Amino acid sequence: MKSLYSRLVIACAVLLSVLLTGLGIVLGQFFPLFAEDSDLLLQRQYWFFLILTLAIAFVLSLFIATRMMIQYARPIDDMTKIATQIAHGDYLARVQTSELEYDNDLAKAINKIASNLQEMSTMQAMEKERLKTLIESMGSGLLMFGRGGTVNLLNEVFEKTFGLSKNEVVGKTFKDIGLPIAIENLIEDVFMKEQVRAEQVKIDSSDHQSYMSVYGAPVIGIHGNWLGIVVVIHDITELVRLEEVRKDFVANVSHELRTPVTSIKGFTETLLDGAMDEPVILKEFLEIIQKESDRLHLLIDDLLELSGIEREGFSLTYAAVNVKEMIDDAMRIVSRGMEQKKMRIVAEVPEDLIIEADAGRLIQVMVNLLSNAINYSKEKTTVTVTVTSFMNEVVMTVRDQGIGIEQSELPRLFERFYRVDRARSRDSGGTGLGLAIVKHLVEIHGGRVEVESKLGVGTTFCIHLPILHNK
Ligand SMILES: Nc1ncnc2c1ncn2[C@@H]1O[C@H](COP(=O)(O)OP(=O)(O)O)[C@@H](O)[C@H]1O
Ligand SMILES: [Mg+2]
Repeated sequence: MKSLYSRLVIACAVLLSVLLTGLGIVLGQFFPLFAEDSDLLLQRQYWFFLILTLAIAFVLSLFIATRMMIQYARPIDDMTKIATQIAHGDYLARVQTSELEYDNDLAKAINKIASNLQEMSTMQAMEKERLKTLIESMGSGLLMFGRGGTVNLLNEVFEKTFGLSKNEVVGKTFKDIGLPIAIENLIEDVFMKEQVRAEQVKIDSSDHQSYMSVYGAPVIGIHGNWLGIVVVIHDITELVRLEEVRKDFVANVSHELRTPVTSIKGFTETLLDGAMDEPVILKEFLEIIQKESDRLHLLIDDLLELSGIEREGFSLTYAAVNVKEMIDDAMRIVSRGMEQKKMRIVAEVPEDLIIEADAGRLIQVMVNLLSNAINYSKEKTTVTVTVTSFMNEVVMTVRDQGIGIEQSELPRLFERFYRVDRARSRDSGGTGLGLAIVKHLVEIHGGRVEVESKLGVGTTFCIHLPILHNK
């Protein structure tokens, strides 16, 4: 399609040729005034001038039109094309100013507009991308309802939490999505009252229970107009579980402390009520009181130990540790208990195996495992300690021929205060914290603990540790 400018130029050219033709005709009219000869000559001259003028007019107007086309119309055509491209969103389009024969402000202005638009659209795309990344990586589920009450935005966390996909949710109202009833009620409330609401909801599904922190708020635009509502959902199941663990722990500690304290209190009162006058009873009761206070002492020591290990900032003192020497030290510590039960210990440990670890903490681990092996075994049985190394790993096993542990008990064995046989553990002076401490210490070393057991046959604990400490 020809532009307005091209048409204008062609119109100018036609007008010019008409003017010049007119001039020719007029000139042709006047020439006979100067002619002296016959009419024929006059007519010939008349036609000759007419055709000549016409030809000159045509050539002249063609020349001028072409010049005008090149100089004015074509650049304007080009600029129109570029402007149209820009209008259609192609902000990279530019007018080639170097090809223009004169300093064209319009071309420069068009290019400036294009580059401004390009910059703005880049910024907008970046902003959009940033917002999208933020929404997708916020770690909470996000759901937005537009003014019409239907979903217009949700993120991946939300999709995963409720097993929904964008396609099946966008455009639906909150009642049609199939959200848990407690969340539906909260959304309805925010819609009705246009006020912020935050709540913790418990969600029961067929296989498990979860807890969500739900926050709903109306979205108000800069001019104060209502744009919809936003709902942010955060899974706090793990937090609630940790809170339960903490509560259980406090309850367990109180219970564990109460038992020896009650005992000490009871025996002291009985003594004060007159029993202390009987020397035999006095001795017996004082021995019980001593045993109970020893237990209390052990319990408090283990509790302090555990809280120390769990505290942030706890660190190990790494050094080169000779595994055999470390195990010998641990065996020396438990030797009395071993002798009392007439038990035997067999150690198969390479002489020169050196690992990078915290020697004191490893002794603690081994003492705990060996004490358990002694406490939960019959007299005259054997405990075997084996150490092997492979690649960057050392495996230390403690195997006993003791009472063994039922398979179903194994997963909970490393929990604090978990004991298979409470009475037996108490009798042997156990606090129920030994294996929890072992697990923590081994994991801080970058290792892991495994346990295998057969009821009535025996138990094997395996400690896997890296030989070199990865800083
Ligand atoms: N070698 C073992 N043989 C049998 N049972 C064991 C053995 N080691 C641990 N257990 C069981 O695991 C429980 C937890 O052990 P632990 O944390 O050391 O606590 P504690 O020995 O103070 O009771 C023990 O009460 C016991 O029931
Ligand atoms: Mg123990």
